[in-house]
Amino acid sequence: MRDIDDRGLLYITENSNSFEYQAFARALGTQPVGIRDVGGEHLRLDPNVVFDVDLRATSSLRKLKGLLARRGTGCRIFMVDPKARIAVSNAESLGADAILEPRCGAEAIHQAIRQHHGIVHAVDVTRSIDAGISALDGGFRSLVRDAVFDTEGMESASGQIIDAIDSAGVDHWMATVRGYHVGTFQHCMLVTATASSFARRLGMRRGDVIKVTAAALVHDIGKSAVPVEILDKNGPLTPEEAQTMRSHPIIGHDYLARRSRIAADALRSVRSHHEYLDGSGYPDGLRGDEIDDITRLVTISDIYAALVERRAYKAPKRPEDAIAVLEALAGAGKLEPALVRAFARITLHKQAA
Ligand SMILES: [Fe+2]
Ligand SMILES: [Fe+2]
Repeated sequence: MRDIDDRGLLYITENSNSFEYQAFARALGTQPVGIRDVGGEHLRLDPNVVFDVDLRATSSLRKLKGLLARRGTGCRIFMVDPKARIAVSNAESLGADAILEPRCGAEAIHQAIRQHHGIVHAVDVTRSIDAGISALDGGFRSLVRDAVFDTEGMESASGQIIDAIDSAGVDHWMATVRGYHVGTFQHCMLVTATASSFARRLGMRRGDVIKVTAAALVHDIGKSAVPVEILDKNGPLTPEEAQTMRSHPIIGHDYLARRSRIAADALRSVRSHHEYLDGSGYPDGLRGDEIDDITRLVTISDIYAALVERRAYKAPKRPEDAIAVLEALAGAGKLEPALVRAFARITLHKQAA
């Protein structure tokens, strides 16, 4: 998860030696970097940047134009006298997110950064959730009509979700989903966020994180063939209803195998996300090594998300209680202990952060 703090704050000044710049840098919680010393490596992590330089100097301007050509989501703040028209227009041409007076104070800078990220996050989060919901909705409808599944649409939604969770944090993303969506769609989106951020924080390559995210997004697509009365039933299912419910992994897998271009391992997780390592799961009663890594990851995320979900008939569990359930399942030989430990570490550390 990238948040405002771990992207860092870069304070670019005319020179790094003056007492005044150093004092202000201390108030900002960073160090000054002179404009002559600044290079691409300073901007690699897409930091928030405060520019305290003379924007009328052509050499500085040229240098900054080169350095700032690529736009990330870091906030760009320029400390410029609002009456200096040329400097203001140069700041704007460099992509200023905020223009503040030179003696504005550190708190005004931090406030501008928080505001910038609040706006960026809100837009990213909402857009990515909309993209995910529309990919899901399209997929659920296509299955019922046995129409072609929009694989590219789902992968693009997955990419947007990964980026939004990266910038806004998984807690905020999941809270937004809970606020606007219910039932099966809420469940699928929460599994997606959980699996995606888990994969990301395990250090997987982006291609694999997309695969995991996409697999999680569609893991329950077979539920579109299950009647709503069963899906949203307010209480325990009868044996017949449970039988119908348990058909969803095969229905989803068979549909996607025929009508989508989803990667084979993501497809396997659609079929096998209710399997347990001890062979007690369904639909195939797979054991141990027969269950691959992506599926293991989706299974843990699926169970966790179901436990922390808000349903009409049950209160959501707290993350630590949901993890205790996962640990018990690992202890019983159903889930991989090392993976559950990693999940607990990542999830609870995140809660404490
Ligand atoms: Fe499922
Ligand atoms: Fe599920």
